[in-house]
Amino acid sequence: MADAPSLADKATLIIDGRGHDYTVRTGTVGPRVVDIRKLYADTDVFTYDPGFTSTASCQSKITYIDGDQGILLHRGYPIDQLAEKSSFMEVSYLLLHGELPSSAELDTFSNTITRHTMLHEQLATFYRGFRRDAHPMAVMCGVVGALSAFYHDSTDITDPEQRMIASHRLIAKMPTIAAMAYKYTLGQPFMYPDNSLSYTGNFLRMTFGVPAERYEVDPVIESAMDKIFILHADHEQNASTSTVRLAGSSGANPFACIAAGIACLWGPAHGGANEAALNMLREIGRPERIPEYIARAKDKNDPFRLMGFGHRVYKNFDPRAKVLSKAATEVLDKLGIVDPVLDTARELEQIALKDDYFVEKKLYPNVDFYSGVILSAIGFPTSMFTALFALARTVGWVAQWNEMISDPDQKIGRPRQLYVGAAQRDYVPVNQR
Ligand code: ACO
Repeated sequence: MADAPSLADKATLIIDGRGHDYTVRTGTVGPRVVDIRKLYADTDVFTYDPGFTSTASCQSKITYIDGDQGILLHRGYPIDQLAEKSSFMEVSYLLLHGELPSSAELDTFSNTITRHTMLHEQLATFYRGFRRDAHPMAVMCGVVGALSAFYHDSTDITDPEQRMIASHRLIAKMPTIAAMAYKYTLGQPFMYPDNSLSYTGNFLRMTFGVPAERYEVDPVIESAMDKIFILHADHEQNASTSTVRLAGSSGANPFACIAAGIACLWGPAHGGANEAALNMLREIGRPERIPEYIARAKDKNDPFRLMGFGHRVYKNFDPRAKVLSKAATEVLDKLGIVDPVLDTARELEQIALKDDYFVEKKLYPNVDFYSGVILSAIGFPTSMFTALFALARTVGWVAQWNEMISDPDQKIGRPRQLYVGAAQRDYVPVNQR
């Protein structure tokens, strides 16, 4: 595989009868891109692409998606292989450093992350400023942003070592922060990390354990949770990752950038869809009601959408949904849980996949469709789902943020616009309007 993109053909854009040539760049795999960086300087014209549907905002070596084929690769490795054979710590190393670690490298990395799991004690008082019914994502936005006030020795973004320390801190502290957000809503004491446990086992103990009792990590739950973390670790230039990159492009510190990513992830069209998908499945309740919801999703006058269905990039099965669909059955079987929501989900999927509306628009289940069923079986309330997504995605965010800062082509992100408002006009005093 070629490391650097090679220069290929030229594209000619004719504006006002004059042709302007632009280089077409070829990546390792995937669509070529027309490099239009000089377009405005050459022609006085911008491109118009709301939602960046046809715009590559950066070059990256981290993740590749082929939405038509339903392929997702991290550093070249297919997601199903990673979910099946790897661990979240190993995938984190891979995303951050570009290669799978040796056994010694993995040990060192896991130890480093483990050593950063504790939070500054004063942050506990920060939690107490929130209402008990605060959404965990509201708490996460606040607490992660506040980390910048506590870890000044890792906010110099020009120093690669400080960038890596900040990245390790963020990966390590997110489980502690998310678990504390959960404990706070319950009114239970915060649990300190236990460094003898795995990354995922430690998170489960901090979430479901109490100081008064010994907590045994269930290997079935630990493995399912680790798989969910792997499946959510990175997803190329999605909305929250682009938000992290955009925030970081101004030189903002990494903790502030990740807080921005968390805010973006919260939306129901993005990470918030896992919560919305399970709520929808519960609302549907039983398979007989599915046609009613399918009809609503197809009705142009009804804002309702099938949550957990459709994706900006995948016009085929989201490969993560395939892994999770299988995992949902395995986890529920192993835990001996019978959840009618899983039957509703399976039936809904089958009906939608045969329906012309969904077929024509290439709407398939996405990662959020089955993750909620598993998380609910493990014992998480729906309000925690997006917080778990944020926890796992932090790895992708910091990997992408590091890549951006090291990219010599990096500039502050500053989109342009097509202005359609009033042209210049004179101020009219209020008594004359
Ligand atoms: N249910 C019903 N109709 C849908 C759905 C859906 N879930 N998703 C898309 N459509 C329809 C739209 O109404 C639109 O129809 P039209 O062309 O007749 O106007 C068409 O399909 C294309 O939809 P867009 O919103 O233009 O597609 P876009 O790529 O912008 O949106 C998105 C992708 C936001 C994910 C969308 O499919 C959606 O809202 N899905 C439900 C929310 C969801 O599950 N989000 C999680 C995404 S994965 C993630 O972030 C981890």
